[in-house]
Amino acid sequence: MEKFSVIGVLGLGHVGLPTAVGFAELGWRVVGTDNDTEKVQRIARGECPFYEPDLEPLLRKNLEAGRLRVTPDVGEAVRTADVLFICVGTPQKPDGSPDLSQVEAVIRTVSENLNGYKLIVEKSTVPVQTAQWIKRTIQRYTKGNAQFDVASNPEFLREGTAVRDFFHPDRIVIGVESERAREWLLELYRPLNAPIVVTDVNTAELIKHAANSFLALKISFINMIADLCEAVGADVTEVARGIGLDPRIGPHFLQAGVGFGGYCLPKDLKAFIHIAEEHNVDFSLLKEVERINEARIERFVRKVREALWVLKDKVLAIWGIAFKPNTDDIREAPSLKLIRRLLDEGAFLRLYDPAAMENARQVFPEDPPRLCYCASALEAATGAHAILVITEWDEFHQMDWQQVRKVVALPIVVDGRNCLAPETLAAAGFEYYGMGRGSVKRYGSEEHLP
Ligand code: UGA
Repeated sequence: MEKFSVIGVLGLGHVGLPTAVGFAELGWRVVGTDNDTEKVQRIARGECPFYEPDLEPLLRKNLEAGRLRVTPDVGEAVRTADVLFICVGTPQKPDGSPDLSQVEAVIRTVSENLNGYKLIVEKSTVPVQTAQWIKRTIQRYTKGNAQFDVASNPEFLREGTAVRDFFHPDRIVIGVESERAREWLLELYRPLNAPIVVTDVNTAELIKHAANSFLALKISFINMIADLCEAVGADVTEVARGIGLDPRIGPHFLQAGVGFGGYCLPKDLKAFIHIAEEHNVDFSLLKEVERINEARIERFVRKVREALWVLKDKVLAIWGIAFKPNTDDIREAPSLKLIRRLLDEGAFLRLYDPAAMENARQVFPEDPPRLCYCASALEAATGAHAILVITEWDEFHQMDWQQVRKVVALPIVVDGRNCLAPETLAAAGFEYYGMGRGSVKRYGSEEHLP
C-alpha cells in the first residue's frame, strides 16, 4: 500500500491549529493553511491567535524544528500534502442549520489543486451526509478524473484543554470507505494509543453531533434538577455527586449553573435538531434541552434580584466573561446575554476576566461608569453591591475573601457556576447565593427579611 508523507491542515482555528501542531509533535511533516493571511503570519511568527494553554510553546517548537510550516496559499498546501484535514468554520445560519459555504469553498480549492491521490478528512463539525456532498463536488469540478477518498474524523477536543485532549483523547472516531483511508488514519493515530472506533462515514459524522447534543442534554438535565433543588431545599451539587458515582451516569457535565455556551454546544444542538427535522424525525427532546438552556440567564437574573431587590443603579461586579475557564473565547457565552440584560435593567457593570477582556471590548465598548473593564477581580469588586460569578476561573477560588469584604459596598456573591465554597464566604461575612444549592443569607444579626 502507498504511504503518505505530508499532512495538510486547512483552516487554523480552535480545531485546526491544535491538530496541525499535534501531528507535527507526533513527528509528521505538516503544512497548515488558512485564507486569513494575517492569522497565518502571526502563526508563522510563533504566535497563537487565540488563548489556548500550552499551545504556543508547542507551536514554536514545531515551527523551529521544521516539522510544521504554514502558508496562506491554500492551493499550495493542497498540492504538497497527501492527507488533507478540513478544519474550516461551520457557523450557524439564522434558521439553525450550519452554513457550509467555507467547506464548499475549500473543497473547490482542493478540486483545482488535486495532483494525485488525496485522502480528504472532515474534521470540522458537519451534518451527516456532508461527505457525500464533498465527493460529488470534487467529482463535478474535476470532471470525474480525480483520485481521492473522503473520510470523517470528528474532533472531540475542548477549548482550554485542546493540547491535552489531542494527545490523550478518550477515543478516536474514523469513518472510512476504503482500505487505504482506514490504514492511513489508523497509522496516523497509532502513537496516541487511544480506543479507535472505525465505522462508515455517515455514522462517524452522526457520532459528533450525538456526542455534543448528549453533553448539552446532561447540562440541561442537571439545571432542571438545580431548580427543583431550590424549590424543595436540596443541594444539586450533592445530587450530582450522588448520581454521578453511578458509572452508567458518570460524574462529568453535571455542573449546574448559568448554562452552556461556546461555539460548539449551542450551535451543534441547533444543527442536530435541524437535521432531525429534515429527515422527519421528531427530536423534540433536544428542543427542550435548548429551551431550558435559554432560560438560564433569566433564572440567574431572578436570583440577583432576589439578593438585591432593585437592579437599577446597582453596581455589579461580573467575574468571568469567557464561555468557560482557560479560554478567551466569548462566542455564545452566557455572560453576553447577562451583560445585555443587566444594562437594560440600568445596572452599573464592572467586568473582569483573566483572558477574555479584549474580545469582550469588541462587543461591549467601555462606557464608564455604566460599563467598566477592570484590571483584577478585586478591582471589579470595589464598590460593588454584588459580585456575580459567571465563569469558574481558578483565580476566583483563590481569592482572599477578607480582603474582598473590605472593598465591596455590600457583601453579596451570586455564584452562577457553584464554584465557590459557601462556608468560606459565610465565614468572611458574605451572603452567598448558588444555583440549586441553597443560600447562605445574612441580613444582619437581629433581623431576617421575609
Ligand atoms: C465541546 C465538547 O465538549 C468537545 O468534546 C467538542 O470537541 C467541542 O465542543 C467541539 O465540538 O468542538 P467546548 O465547546 O470546548 O467543547 O466546551 P465544553 O467543555 O463542552 O463546555 C461547553 C459549555 O458547557 C461551557 O459554557 C461550560 O461552562 C458548560 N458546562 C459544561 C456546564 O454548564 N456544565 C457542565 O457540567 C459542563
